[in-house]
Amino acid sequence: MKPVYERFIENPDFTKPDFIELIKCAEDPEAVRRLKEEAVRIREIYYGKKVFTRGLIEYTNYCKNDCYYCGIRKSNTNAKRYRLTEDEIMACCENGYELGFRTFVLQGGEDAYYTDDRMVAIIKKIKEAYPECALTLSIGEKSYESYKRFREAGADRYLLRHETANEEHYRKLHPEKMSVRKNCLYDLKKLGYQVGAGMMVGSPYQTTEDLAEDLVFLKELQPEMVGIGPFIPHHDTQFAKEPAGSVEMTLFLLAVIRILLPKVLLPATTALGTMDPLGREKGLQAGANVVMPNLSPVKNRKQYELYDNKICTGEEAAECRGCMGRRVASVGYELVTERGDAV
Ligand code: 5AD
Ligand code: FES
Repeated sequence: MKPVYERFIENPDFTKPDFIELIKCAEDPEAVRRLKEEAVRIREIYYGKKVFTRGLIEYTNYCKNDCYYCGIRKSNTNAKRYRLTEDEIMACCENGYELGFRTFVLQGGEDAYYTDDRMVAIIKKIKEAYPECALTLSIGEKSYESYKRFREAGADRYLLRHETANEEHYRKLHPEKMSVRKNCLYDLKKLGYQVGAGMMVGSPYQTTEDLAEDLVFLKELQPEMVGIGPFIPHHDTQFAKEPAGSVEMTLFLLAVIRILLPKVLLPATTALGTMDPLGREKGLQAGANVVMPNLSPVKNRKQYELYDNKICTGEEAAECRGCMGRRVASVGYELVTERGDAV
């Protein structure tokens, strides 16, 4: 019989036991080589050498949630909190637009100051000023009604990582239940958002079975975007002493996800770049086709500290756009300015 990774390449319609067997190949160099080769082949069929770029605006680090892994969890009294004003957000967009960004991602903690009315006002303002740009929200768990209002105000996409598809594992990472999160993702799909799910790789207590369930869930949800990155401990959380997730496993899973969801928009994440100085470039070489440079004001970047040693937060990062362009070109791809919608 053919090795499991060849069977996956031929027909990725796998079940949980198949995925478990597949994930065990992450340590087999030939399997990794083949999966990356196939992932790159597939991404080039749909997207050629293009890499899409999203301007990330981290507009608030206030959060009412208490995810055990996250540096901006509400119980972290050491976090220096900030929120950008509407004018500051608009200034980030303006700067981003001049740099060639045609997608803005508003990301923040779950901050009660930003009521639905305030969010709707900001969404409208951005879409009026930049009608040809896509607007992505990444602002957590909300009701169907809220998601509907944001969508009607003009939001195009929504990022909400599921973090882990296994209920028991979810409860070890969060005080709340997982079912809420999954329901949110289905609500967002129903409302016509392009939806992004995803998980951390190597988060505390994660097993191979959990990762297999993540892949089954992604196959079922069929998200337009998938964000994955290694877990990285934050010194002010209860997971401070836990080991970080592996770059190799993240790259392996990027390749697997590209094969599983051929047209997916798949970022090479900041967390990957934090764990390895060439992590994002390696991500592109494993099937990723999106990068998300930071557009937040440099004075606030260090404060949006989800994990330790986050890159692109120093003065040197005032111009991530140029840095990203060079990085993408260094592995033979081209950073483009188009919106980069799901195909
Ligand atoms: N390490 C890696 N990723 C993290 N995130 C939050 N905290 C960490 C951490 N310690 C990720 C989560 C979240 C996204 C915005 O950042 O997956 O969905
Ligand atoms: Fe931000 Fe390189 S991409 S500094």
